Amino acid sequence: MGLPLLLPLLLLLPTSLQDGGSAKCKSNNIYEVIQPEHLSAPEGGSIHIPFSFCYSGNPAKDPRESISWRWGHFHGEFIYNTTPPFTHEDFKNRLVLNWTKGARNGSLLISNLRKEDSSTYFCRVQLTTQKEGRQLWQSILGTSLTITRDTEKTTMRATSTITITTTTDSVSVSGDKRSLGSCSFSTEAAVSVAMTSTVFKIAILGLIFYLRWKRSKGLQTK
Ligand SMILES: *[C@@H]1O[C@H](CO)[C@@H](O)[C@H](O)[C@H]1NC(C)=O
Ligand SMILES: *[C@@H]1O[C@H](CO)[C@@H](O)[C@H](O)[C@H]1NC(C)=O
Repeated sequence: MGLPLLLPLLLLLPTSLQDGGSAKCKSNNIYEVIQPEHLSAPEGGSIHIPFSFCYSGNPAKDPRESISWRWGHFHGEFIYNTTPPFTHEDFKNRLVLNWTKGARNGSLLISNLRKEDSSTYFCRVQLTTQKEGRQLWQSILGTSLTITRDTEKTTMRATSTITITTTTDSVSVSGDKRSLGSCSFSTEAAVSVAMTSTVFKIAILGLIFYLRWKRSKGLQTK
């Protein structure tokens, strides 16, 4: 849905770029930052958060464009800045801004994704204009990023769970055969366990009777 909407905008880019290096906004806004509303990526993976911006006024001859990103909420902490260069310590060596000065689009690459990276990311643009001096604007909604659990790990956890099924005549334990193996007890086995214990009880009783009999026999001989 985003692409068909973006295409007419992109077709306008070459003509507007000749016009003082600025891309006018398609909407009625004087300036705008466009980002996808929602993205998701697996833990440990990486994600490109694409952005584009426009300005309907005239930028200065040297617009000194600068891009920054903040997270959490609209007024959240800064995590990245082009000039002066800055990267938040939670993102050290994990952020790359794929953008060249003068371009109206780019992307923020976050790699080695962690669960804590689930947040909203806001792109902010600054540039110097001919009439209004330095201007800055930011995406209002930002991009909400969801970090998903590694699917492979989840599958591994699922296969190693043990299921115990009990039916009237058998008990079977099944699970990951490589590590657990599987075994089942039949009624015969259960009966033989019961028999063994009965035999054992009889043997004890027998022994008691034998000892008593032997003792009384001994008393008689005296
Ligand atoms: C930057 O974006 C371009 C176009 O999307 C892509 O080909 C390139 O690999 C990206 N570079 C980095 C470092 O991500
Ligand atoms: C800018 O947008 C164009 C068209 O969608 C795309 O091909 C290019 O990779 C983008 N540049 C960056 C740096 O993402």
